[in-house]
Amino acid sequence: METSIKSLMFSTPFTNAAGVWCTTEKELKEIRDSAAGFVTFKSMTIFPRKGNVEPRFSYFNHSSINSMGLPNKGVDYYCKVAKKLQGKKPMIASIAGFSPDEYITLLKKVNNAPFDGIEVNLSCPNVVGKGIFAYNIPLSIKIMKELRKMTEKVLGVKLPPYVSRDNVKNMAEGLINAKVDFVTTINSFPLGCAIDYKKEKMKIKPNDGIGGLGGAATKNIGIGQVVLFRQFSKGKLGIIGVGGVEKGSDVYEYILAGASAVAVGTALWKNKPVLFSKLKYELESIMKKQKVKKLSEKIGALKII
Ligand code: DHB
Repeated sequence: METSIKSLMFSTPFTNAAGVWCTTEKELKEIRDSAAGFVTFKSMTIFPRKGNVEPRFSYFNHSSINSMGLPNKGVDYYCKVAKKLQGKKPMIASIAGFSPDEYITLLKKVNNAPFDGIEVNLSCPNVVGKGIFAYNIPLSIKIMKELRKMTEKVLGVKLPPYVSRDNVKNMAEGLINAKVDFVTTINSFPLGCAIDYKKEKMKIKPNDGIGGLGGAATKNIGIGQVVLFRQFSKGKLGIIGVGGVEKGSDVYEYILAGASAVAVGTALWKNKPVLFSKLKYELESIMKKQKVKKLSEKIGALKII
């Protein structure tokens, strides 16, 4: 079941999606001590943030909607936690700036802490009045090129869903040119809306009820992005697949599509970190049935019909 992205070795191909079960030291330790193969930290900003007003998260039908607004304890806190938790499994810092310069400040800090990899979050949908960097592809490539110059750690970028092949192609080719190591795809679909029909109200309050849709409703969007990133990067980018992973078969589908690992958000929120043990058990039994000796041999092995 071992997989890898560049120098990062994962004993199991699962992690928490940035944002879920990873805001406090206690939560991060629970992920580290679970059957997850690596730990992803909450997207960190330069200063601590309280985030958006509540209600800002709602779970329904194996899916979720959120508009958290980057509540986090600030980069310095997470650098200290990384020191305490290091040594057991790879740890990935997720950084979220409000300007290209802020990404540089954040990168310097996490580069000096014992993180093994860095995920640059260019796709947070929920900060009132801020757009999503990753929808500006030339700017995103420019930011990633700058950051690449500053670190030798494994470097990746968290992306939102795209709706044209050209966007995926341009992003994939630009990131390869920038020598980025991996993409994490997808962040939540940014313009979701969930309604409580009995109350005749939106389920969340920030941004007038529009927020990031995650979970089962996004699984086949995530798989489509993984397939296209795999195709356009010709295997030159590692891929962490995200969106609707809840069962071993979901993990196996993402692996066949081209992901080297998956991140679990909504289902982790619902089931707690013990979910990773269930995923491991279910993936093992699928591998037996499919007569797979090494999971890594199945990455991108999907057949086109
Ligand atoms: C938040 C949501 C995201 O999807 C993300 O990538 C970063 C932050 C949030 O609202 O906190």
